[in-house]
Amino acid sequence: DRLPALLCAMPKAELHMHIEGSLEPELIFALAQRNGVAIPYASVDELRQAYAFTNLQSFLDIYYAGASVLLKEQDFYDMAWAYLERAAADNVVRTEMFFDPQTHTARGVDVKVVIDGLHRACVDAEATLGVSAALILCFLRHLSEEDAFETLEQALPHRDKFIGVGLDSSEVGHPPEKFAKVFGRCRELGLHLVAHAGEEGPPAYVWSALDVLKVERVDHGVQSARDPALMARLAQDRIPLTVCPLSNLKLCVFPDLKAHNLGTLLDAGLVATVNSDDPAYFGGYMNENFLQTFAATGLTAQHAWQLAANSFEGSFIDDAAKAGYV
Ligand code: ADE
Ligand code: ZN
Repeated sequence: DRLPALLCAMPKAELHMHIEGSLEPELIFALAQRNGVAIPYASVDELRQAYAFTNLQSFLDIYYAGASVLLKEQDFYDMAWAYLERAAADNVVRTEMFFDPQTHTARGVDVKVVIDGLHRACVDAEATLGVSAALILCFLRHLSEEDAFETLEQALPHRDKFIGVGLDSSEVGHPPEKFAKVFGRCRELGLHLVAHAGEEGPPAYVWSALDVLKVERVDHGVQSARDPALMARLAQDRIPLTVCPLSNLKLCVFPDLKAHNLGTLLDAGLVATVNSDDPAYFGGYMNENFLQTFAATGLTAQHAWQLAANSFEGSFIDDAAKAGYV
């Protein structure tokens, strides 16, 4: 069977990963020691054993605790560089990385420190790994829209170092409409727009991400399959869904990978893609997501080709570069 080799070897773009979610337990411990930050786990093994999640919130609590060891520009660089090396090994040739500035500014870390460290890793990745890397700033939806506006203000002096904005964190109870004004402002600024919707939340959140926030891609979006009219809209407008199978498995969105609806989304003609979300927490980077999903669901080489093509179509690289990949 040559399918696993194809999945690993094919060039691909990653459109949905949180750089703070690439922080491996070993690096959390190393940075905690380097920065003199106390963490409530005695060892790397003990920390890894805490990675047993029942839903999105149970993960987010540990994910934000892990990010507390990041203080210096070099910390953000080291985290991003470790991910970019893993991405290159999986034949990811383009990655659009989310970062959560509010997780850091709330601890007194300047947004410039965050962006400069991440951006320097992106520049080095292009030069030495051959990976094209860009940053997308995410607003935390459990915080207020006013907080999001303040974060945007702080980040705008670094406008040249990120290509767009997204919306992440606790979904249910924090619908896209809550951020209508700040997304409107970002749209005026010419930023690319994406949002998490339909991970745990209802199809109505995907509708409002599209119609109120006017996003270009929907992150996750797997709950859209419950709404035929929404499926038709996503197919018609070729709105990419950045699906994250191992994340959905670990956060109990699906009971097992065999039950995942990626095949349904693809066969309905949607621009679905495969992504790692928070690879250090969910047990796999890009190729592991492809390998496990294909093994469980019986997707074919034709689906693999479609997923790779979709990843470049859905990416924010310019059209000339896109033509070179697809
Ligand atoms: N932040 C990091 N990973 C996330 C996810 N899967 N959903 C929402 N917010 C996140
Ligand atoms: Zn995510």
